[in-house]
Amino acid sequence: MRTFKPISYARLLEQIEIVRSGLRWSTTLDRAGISRILHQVNKLRSEVLTYARVEKIKARKSERQIKEHHAAEERRQALLDRSFVFEGVFGDNPKLLETVETVEKAARTDLPILIEGESGTGKELLAKVIHANSTRSQQAFISVNCGAITSTLLESELFGHVKGAFTGSIKDRKGLFEAADGGTIFLDEVGELPLESQVKLLRALQSGEIQRVGSDDPIQVDTRIVAATNRDLYEMSMNRQFREDLYYRISTIAVTIPPLRERKDEIPLLIDYFSGEAADQLKQSEVKLTPRLYNFLHDYAYRGNIRELRNIIYRVACLSDGVADIIHLPEHIRPDPADRATSQKVNPSGNGRTLESVRKKAVDAAEKEFIEEKLRLVNGNVTMLARQLDMNRSYLQTLLKKRGIRAKNYKQQKRPATPVAK
Ligand SMILES: Nc1ncnc2c1ncn2[C@@H]1O[C@H](COP(=O)(O)OP(=O)(O)OP(=O)(O)O)[C@@H](O)[C@H]1O
Ligand SMILES: [Mg+2]
Repeated sequence: MRTFKPISYARLLEQIEIVRSGLRWSTTLDRAGISRILHQVNKLRSEVLTYARVEKIKARKSERQIKEHHAAEERRQALLDRSFVFEGVFGDNPKLLETVETVEKAARTDLPILIEGESGTGKELLAKVIHANSTRSQQAFISVNCGAITSTLLESELFGHVKGAFTGSIKDRKGLFEAADGGTIFLDEVGELPLESQVKLLRALQSGEIQRVGSDDPIQVDTRIVAATNRDLYEMSMNRQFREDLYYRISTIAVTIPPLRERKDEIPLLIDYFSGEAADQLKQSEVKLTPRLYNFLHDYAYRGNIRELRNIIYRVACLSDGVADIIHLPEHIRPDPADRATSQKVNPSGNGRTLESVRKKAVDAAEKEFIEEKLRLVNGNVTMLARQLDMNRSYLQTLLKKRGIRAKNYKQQKRPATPVAK
């Protein structure tokens, strides 16, 4: 059987040349006829040339893309070949690869590392990865959320205290820096650290010494510091909300984890990973996603980054009977048209109201009212409110955004000073 083989552009141009020269020597056509056909053939020739040029550019471009892709694959494989430990997944995204490669090199040293990234991008996971790839991996890894502990308690948590240092301190107590001696301490939300504690942290970094609250005796510790923040620490240091000297010290090695929207190519990998993880945890077979849901998950703008994707997969795995679809998504993220179609199926009256949606609306409204009232009491200070509610500050920020609340609207205006009578 003959197979069709497309003719190359070069061969096509050669054929056109043959027609052109043949035309010139034609004995059967008059001059006007020859020049009319020649004109058509010339037009055809120039079109073929244009196509040939475009194809060449395309080929060059895709060759570059293929090369880039191969390079990323090789970089990823090289990391794995060097027994790099990563307790999750990472693909071929160049931005993430760069972060992971920096972390791999820095992990072997005792230098402080600052991890920057939006909420839910995997900062804590990366801190664990640093520890696991360091020579300290057999020692303690201790994680402290600086935003979740009140400033009065934080110092004693970190550095310990001696008996009688404050009311209730009935005996000496080791702090987390000492508990992590030889290992790593992870200071999450380091931007929330009160200025007074920042001085002590700087000292620990500079001299490896700490002092328990209520004591002047220095204690030598060998604790590696990894810090994380989802705030702009540099800007905070410029605004004197964070010590500049400490900023430079803890960010000796600074890495950023890109948000999920900047590494969408990792989404299929993460979906697979979390589907498997959910199946194990829920003791069921792996959930299958309809193409509709899969496409939605691929294009969705994850404000909560990887954590949000993970939660969605767990949810759909739990709520579906093996095959998950749009209907299994949390209602507030469900795309509208599909939502309408599916809610009509669930609720034949077709007015779009379901018991679940009515309940959710009421809960949302109550939550909003509660937060607004509390915000007013703390004068719009989110950090203070997070502490009062014993809540992660970044989670509270997400909640505010979700409910459309702007903290600064709850700041009371400073009254202008009363004019002094002359
Ligand atoms: N590359 C990854 N592979 C698998 N799971 C991941 C990955 N990155 C993050 N995760 C998971 O996503 C969730 C969020 O990650 P993590 O808690 O490290 O984020 P975070 O940046 O510290 O968030 P926050 O700023 O809110 O504290 C965790 O369950 C974590 O295990
Ligand atoms: Mg975290």
